[in-house]
Amino acid sequence: MSVEGWLEMARNSEEKEEVAAEETSEDAEASEEKPKLEGRRDAMAEIAELSGIGDKTLEKIRESGITDMMALAACSPKELMEASGIGDETALKIINYARQKMNVGFESATEVFKRRQAIGRISTGSRSFDELLGGGGLETQAITECYGSFGSGKSQLAHQLAVNVQLPKEQGGLGGKAIFIDTEQTFRPSRLVDMAKAKGLDPEDVMKNVYMARAYNSDHQIVLVEKAEDIIRKENIKLIVIDSLTASFRSDYTGRGELASRQQKLNRHMHKLQRLADVYNLAVYVTNQVMARPDVMFGDPTAPIGGHIVGHQATYRVYLRKSKEDKRIAKLIDSPCLPEAETIFRVTKDGIIDAEEK
Ligand SMILES: Nc1ncnc2c1ncn2[C@@H]1O[C@H](COP(=O)(O)OP(=O)(O)O)[C@@H](O)[C@H]1O
Ligand SMILES: [Mg+2]
Repeated sequence: MSVEGWLEMARNSEEKEEVAAEETSEDAEASEEKPKLEGRRDAMAEIAELSGIGDKTLEKIRESGITDMMALAACSPKELMEASGIGDETALKIINYARQKMNVGFESATEVFKRRQAIGRISTGSRSFDELLGGGGLETQAITECYGSFGSGKSQLAHQLAVNVQLPKEQGGLGGKAIFIDTEQTFRPSRLVDMAKAKGLDPEDVMKNVYMARAYNSDHQIVLVEKAEDIIRKENIKLIVIDSLTASFRSDYTGRGELASRQQKLNRHMHKLQRLADVYNLAVYVTNQVMARPDVMFGDPTAPIGGHIVGHQATYRVYLRKSKEDKRIAKLIDSPCLPEAETIFRVTKDGIIDAEEK
């Protein structure tokens, strides 16, 4: 699919959705002809030859999007089962095969180190916020989630990152482009213009480098992410924004009996995002609106009402809340290797800046 095709699909959700769903399996076959990324290849043909693996199983795995050998090798059986809905024995068999093929059981610390060295960073605009995330800002090969109440700055940060990713490395960017999936109709090109000007970038160029799509419901959102890979292959995309990740899932799955399927779809969606982040060394930023809890006096007031529907799939989770005037507080919550900490930044016309900046 062309870039124009993706944008077209983003505009006409309803009619295109069916077509897109039909295209998926054809695309999967077509992609076998495409040039492979180094060290990664489509595993489906080989998996198909394993005994006891039927067409249905193959189809389920294709749908999960975990179709290259390295991604399969990197899965835990539980992850693969959740993402694809296949049985545990089959999952184990496939993963073991992939691990053997890719020799990942013996990946040395040097190799892990090398892979991690490729990680890039996108500045938030505030040095202290960047420090909170380990220095430099949002990591590539990771999903960063900001959750907080209305007006806490989640969308402002989304716009800021879409601008900052375009900056050269020395200035906190990755010289790349952004995909911006807007589910709440809060994307504003005028904010990109303000922020671009403040960074000395050409606003026209900045807007051109942000591929924006409105997602009308959770299925549309899922398809947009699935199809994003077509753009990522052609363009130097270094950031995917989903603002908001969870809103459509909340409104589309309201019944009690639907919680499990909502969770499963969301897990699969997050898994795809993580895979794109890993394979293409890009950053993923997602937002999650939760209500403030002024009622909580004891316990954790940052625990979102309605539970952590994103679960623990985000690598970095940041809780945002309002402070005085344009000040906002960011708190890092359960990160793999950083301490829980807080910092203050400001949301201004020029975008996100340090608390003490003018
Ligand atoms: N043009 C602007 N100039 C200054 N501040 C702005 C501007 N646009 C938005 N803001 C600030 O950002 C806030 C909205 O933040 P936003 O990121 O949209 O919240 P949410 O967390 O709900 O996505 C506004 O309340 C305002 O303080
Ligand atoms: Mg918002």
